[in-house]
Amino acid sequence: MKVTLSVIKADIGGWVGHSESHPLILEKSRELLQKTASSGKIIDFHVTKCGDDLQLIMTHQKGEESGEIHKMAWDIFVEGTKLAKKLKLHGAGQDLLSDAFSGNVKGMGPGVAEMEIEERDAESIIIFMADKTSSGAWNMPLYKMFADPFNTIGLVIASNMHSGFSFEVHDVQKHKKVSFNTPEEIYDMLIFMGAPSHYPVKSVRHRPSGEIAAVSSTQRLSMLAGRYVGKDDPVCIVRAQGKFPAVGEVLEPFALPFLVEGWMRGSHNGPLMPVSVADSIPSRFDGPPRVIALGFQLAEGKLVGPRDMFADISFDEARKQANTAAEYMRRHGPFEPHRLPLEEMEYTTMPQVMKKLKNRFTDLPE
Ligand code: F6R
Ligand code: MG
Ligand code: MG
Repeated sequence: MKVTLSVIKADIGGWVGHSESHPLILEKSRELLQKTASSGKIIDFHVTKCGDDLQLIMTHQKGEESGEIHKMAWDIFVEGTKLAKKLKLHGAGQDLLSDAFSGNVKGMGPGVAEMEIEERDAESIIIFMADKTSSGAWNMPLYKMFADPFNTIGLVIASNMHSGFSFEVHDVQKHKKVSFNTPEEIYDMLIFMGAPSHYPVKSVRHRPSGEIAAVSSTQRLSMLAGRYVGKDDPVCIVRAQGKFPAVGEVLEPFALPFLVEGWMRGSHNGPLMPVSVADSIPSRFDGPPRVIALGFQLAEGKLVGPRDMFADISFDEARKQANTAAEYMRRHGPFEPHRLPLEEMEYTTMPQVMKKLKNRFTDLPE
């Protein structure tokens, strides 16, 4: 059976500040999706949140980029925004960049990751959702899951994974894409992937079958809007088991709270902390950045789950390390590399300050 899994998310208002989603917004979204499910337009859904981001997880048979599904998600965000405005939540409707829907939510603010799959006998899926960071955050974990034998022993000892995977990498500045086959092209690939804010990974496919293994959202809100409207707070869907990495291999990269861009004012580097849904409440310095992972088995499109994968105590050490790293990074205050380089910050006063001081700059002697 062919099923499409669509994860469409938006920050339509924070409670309090940018730290959390209001329960009434989640409730309202569930109500609206329940109506759609009852009408048969979608098979199943799960509504959750990661920090201040509302996450709509849906299964249906309308394929990727379906105008009908995107419009339904858009309408829920619009309805949610009305409620967010009533509750005077912070930044109500901040990710809805247009007043009218135009066929596809891509480019309109919300983040989207979708995959159409032929459901396997057992279809294990992990959906990662992050807050206070951007889409490049998935680069290191996707590399580790699908190309690093120190993370994924299956690449070495499972015959159905031994041919490797192919990665589609996007150039978000020039609006181009390129694919790499691993393991033979990892050195060429890493020169791009190692610059995640410029070259995020869009998808990963199994070789030689070409079957989709992972897909991420690669929207860069700041670029879409031409002004600061928040970090992407991206999502990523990963298939697990069989010819894909095992669930444990998919989760393993997050045992290291690696540094990502985002955090306070989208202008800092900080550790990505793996947490349960309940703990996705970034408060310290509006962070540190969080990632949640929900696991499902698909059964004829039904979402059997979720299992809150990072609720496992075996990620306690990663959380402890993330807090230690957060403390260490914070001590750098307004200095790089805690604060992002000038051109990467989402907030800046540089043009104003430069203008003010223009006449005070004099030439250095030769
Ligand atoms: C970062 C984030 C927050 C805000 C900060 C200022 O992604 O969401 O750190 O940037 O709280 O928010 P505003 O400008 O809305 O007052
Ligand atoms: Mg927000
Ligand atoms: Mg957010």
